Amino acid sequence: MPDTLPPEFDKPFQDKLDSLLRWRRDVRRFRPDPLPPGAVEALVARACLAPSVGNSQPWRFVQVDDTARRKAVRAEFERCNAEALAAQAPADRAAYARLKLAGLDTAPRHLAVFCDEATQSGRGLGRNTMPEALRYSAVGAVFALWLAARARDIGVGWVSILEPLRMTAILDVPQDWSFVAYLCLGYPERADDVPELERSGWQMRDEAAARILER
Ligand SMILES: Cc1cc2nc3c(=O)[nH]c(=O)nc-3n(C[C@H](O)[C@H](O)[C@H](O)COP(=O)(O)O)c2cc1C
Repeated sequence: MPDTLPPEFDKPFQDKLDSLLRWRRDVRRFRPDPLPPGAVEALVARACLAPSVGNSQPWRFVQVDDTARRKAVRAEFERCNAEALAAQAPADRAAYARLKLAGLDTAPRHLAVFCDEATQSGRGLGRNTMPEALRYSAVGAVFALWLAARARDIGVGWVSILEPLRMTAILDVPQDWSFVAYLCLGYPERADDVPELERSGWQMRDEAAARILER
């Protein structure tokens, strides 16, 4: 028996959780106000409650506060985004160029997330046929952090327009950590229940039912 009684996740809680899921957003426009001291650490603690294959907890978080490293990340984003723009179909290029795809300049906090591919934790359980389950675990941690942040009115923006090996070098982390995410964190300029890419007409959300197959 657990030491404490489990909480009751009653209907009002369920409704709030639904709202949290609906109002979580990828944020690229931040107010410059700083986050309170300890806020990022508190979010990382929530992220670490995520499930992981074999309980391996392969997530590693790097707080990026150093000006020179941030500048290097910014330059890397510019380089990768220019390549991505050039790779767009000609018909999409102008629309792509108008998108804002990162809030690197205004987000007060930057957090890089890596997956420790060499971790011995979990002793390989669950990874024999699917080594990628380790990275999936790290992604689960990002999502837990994202929700915990939104519940505190903190916005998160996931930046993936970056070259993973260069990120490992820029942030000087072990070679066997694979790059998972670069997160911008801060208070959002606005709250929204519609994704920015939907508002800009780039990509609509599908109905959930359209994504379910029966076999
Ligand atoms: C794995 C992953 C990578 C992403 N990379 C970027 C990115 O580089 N730039 C960006 O603006 N948004 C990025 N996003 C955010 C998505 O564009 C966003 O989640 C999607 O448009 C839906 O919007 P929402 O998160 O507000 O619901 C990423 C999201 C995920 C899950």
